[in-house]
Amino acid sequence: RELPSILNRMPKAELHIHIEGSLEPELIFEMAQRNGIKLDYPSIEELRAAYAFTDLQSFLDIYYAGAGVLQTEEDFFDMAWSYLNRAKADHVLHAEIFFDPQTHTSRGIPFATVIGGLDRAVRRGREELGVSASLILCFLRHLSEEEAFAALEEALPYRDRFIGVGLDSGERGNPPEKFARVFARCRELGLHLVAHAGEEGPADYIRDALDILKAERIDHGVRCLEDADLVARLARERVPLTVCPLSNVKLAVFHEMHDHNLGRLLQAGIAATVNSDDPAYFGGYLNDNYAATFAALPELGAREAYQLARNSFEASFVAEEEKKGWV
Ligand code: ADE
Ligand code: ZN
Repeated sequence: RELPSILNRMPKAELHIHIEGSLEPELIFEMAQRNGIKLDYPSIEELRAAYAFTDLQSFLDIYYAGAGVLQTEEDFFDMAWSYLNRAKADHVLHAEIFFDPQTHTSRGIPFATVIGGLDRAVRRGREELGVSASLILCFLRHLSEEEAFAALEEALPYRDRFIGVGLDSGERGNPPEKFARVFARCRELGLHLVAHAGEEGPADYIRDALDILKAERIDHGVRCLEDADLVARLARERVPLTVCPLSNVKLAVFHEMHDHNLGRLLQAGIAATVNSDDPAYFGGYLNDNYAATFAALPELGAREAYQLARNSFEASFVAEEEKKGWV
């Protein structure tokens, strides 16, 4: 009865959101028009109808195509500003936002344009919306380590505008060890480290993200339950998992929400959090993710709601002092 209202109104943090995945079809059409780009779909409805995915790669193909409309600093600002307003409506007090610079620089968009627009939205969000936000640069794991190093090099003049690095895109066949050296370099630079692991890839990738990349947080990580030793370790070391329930169902990691293991992760003592991943593509923002999981999983109640919100702040990279005001 009261639970949906508690879920909606409780203060929370979002730690796994790809800003390019917040680009709604309406904005894609608006930007295509103002930038003189011809889209493969005649209407917003037809584009949205194409959002029927069978696995991660089938999503990534459409997601990278959609990001092709982003050209100017204004475009990057508008995308992030739109997300921050949605976050505010969901009572998100703090967001750590992924962006994929290689998706844009490979199309000839300067890194300065990308970070300029995103950073301006983040600053304005803090001032006008009271939403605290920071940026995490993700390397595309289907590309080479050399290309990741080049992306890092381009980003370093803007080192003060992002707090860490992550690893995303197609997981299978692109293991953590492929990026061992670039992550070691980022660690020396004092950047926070996260990595997608155990979404489609095996539990071993989660262990390798911790041991080889020294990731502080694992994005998704839901396949850890296939390895009991790993589960015990994640719980013992309080390694946070940024779980994305609607994404997992849309990308067929779980057949339906009823099968999702979020409740089991919490029961195992893992610091799981709820996140939206790519809300424009997966049918909902953060509160939609909370609503869908709690509606489908009977083991989740008010205690777990509180635990998840608390986990989201504890797992964030904000200073301990600031966390105290939240948890
Ligand atoms: N890029 C955007 N969303 C992603 C996901 N869920 N997994 C890997 N790469 C992504
Ligand atoms: Zn993701």
